Amino acid sequence: MKTIDELAHDGLAGKRVFVRADLNVPLDGTTITDDGRIRAVAPTIARLAELGAKVVVASHLGRPKGAPDPAFSLAPAAKRLGEILGTDVAFATDTVGDSAKSVVAGLADGRIAVIENLRFNPGETAKDDAERGAFADRLAELADVYVGDGFGAVHRKHASVYDLPARLPHAAGNLIATEVGVLKKLTEDVKRPYVVVLGGAKVSDKLAVIDQLLGKADRLLIGGGMAYTFLKAKGYEVGISLLQEDQIPQVKEYMERAEKNGVELVLPVDVLAASDFPDLKTKAPADYVTVDADAIPADKEGLDIGPKTRELFASKLSDAATIFWNGPLGVFEHPDYAGGTRAIARALLDSDGFSVVGGGDSAAAVRTLGFDENAFGHISTGGGASLEYLEGKTLPGLAALED
Ligand code: 3PG
Repeated sequence: MKTIDELAHDGLAGKRVFVRADLNVPLDGTTITDDGRIRAVAPTIARLAELGAKVVVASHLGRPKGAPDPAFSLAPAAKRLGEILGTDVAFATDTVGDSAKSVVAGLADGRIAVIENLRFNPGETAKDDAERGAFADRLAELADVYVGDGFGAVHRKHASVYDLPARLPHAAGNLIATEVGVLKKLTEDVKRPYVVVLGGAKVSDKLAVIDQLLGKADRLLIGGGMAYTFLKAKGYEVGISLLQEDQIPQVKEYMERAEKNGVELVLPVDVLAASDFPDLKTKAPADYVTVDADAIPADKEGLDIGPKTRELFASKLSDAATIFWNGPLGVFEHPDYAGGTRAIARALLDSDGFSVVGGGDSAAAVRTLGFDENAFGHISTGGGASLEYLEGKTLPGLAALED
């Protein structure tokens, strides 16, 4: 993969550079609740502007249905990017239409514009190669050069991620280069013990990565909603906890394989359980009990790992040389169920090992729970993307950047 500096050898001044970023940030109305992804790509954009490029930034936000939808506008992200960079950022109210064309045509050297959400066009996510290609052709008209830096979206075979780089001279931005460098440390010559913490709601989202990790990791700590399918597979009753019955045979096979491969698979030994899911809007105090994992009452659901599990997981992380963590351990959005996730974040900070926080919810949790993100080895901007990388899959957005 070419870097921006290699691309700059041919001169970027006066060229229109299309930066495929991932500005898919969480919003509450028009308020950005976590701007981590914008801050992460800002240095690439600043560098290109410094080199005199006319920088055209593009991204998706959320999952609109292939048509404009104000709830998914990138306008708040464009505004925040301008604040972070301390410069004016122009905004086009469409993606390949009159607004985009005139905003890009009006860019002076070293200036920046953001175009509207790529997913307002059905061609961006189309399964049909020709439809995606036709949209990529229109995007290509806006630029002379392509820089891929939307790490969070590299696992998507979308027009701006996969088809557009084939149409323009291209390079990887600094964020993608950093993310890939970090993930290589988890896949090649990994320093041991290598401990992985997996949380999140659904075990089905993590099957492929568990499959890979059973041949790589030394310990696998499982929490979050997905843990209940493991506990059930172990023969425990889990009350009304989140459960994926259809995954039980697969999970049993993983447990057997872990034992055979000498991978320590560690499950919660206690949980916080309640009759109701907490109110995340009012954050009213929750009414829960702390119970052992084999004694979850029939009318209750587990919503966080309990204190014994927090200690157990922390002890399993204490001697780790490499740590990867993806997925919250409980419903961290509610203060009463944030303790498990907080304990894991703290254990990562206490460890002398190299720790990587997979993107998405776990990255947001670290920031919203008030941890200093710079104290972690690396916080990825890609949840799904980093998992698929660890699964050993070819990621379309990375393959497209190879020369
Ligand atoms: C993410 O939030 O994981 C990325 O921005 C990709 O978004 P998507 O899952 O909607 O493709």
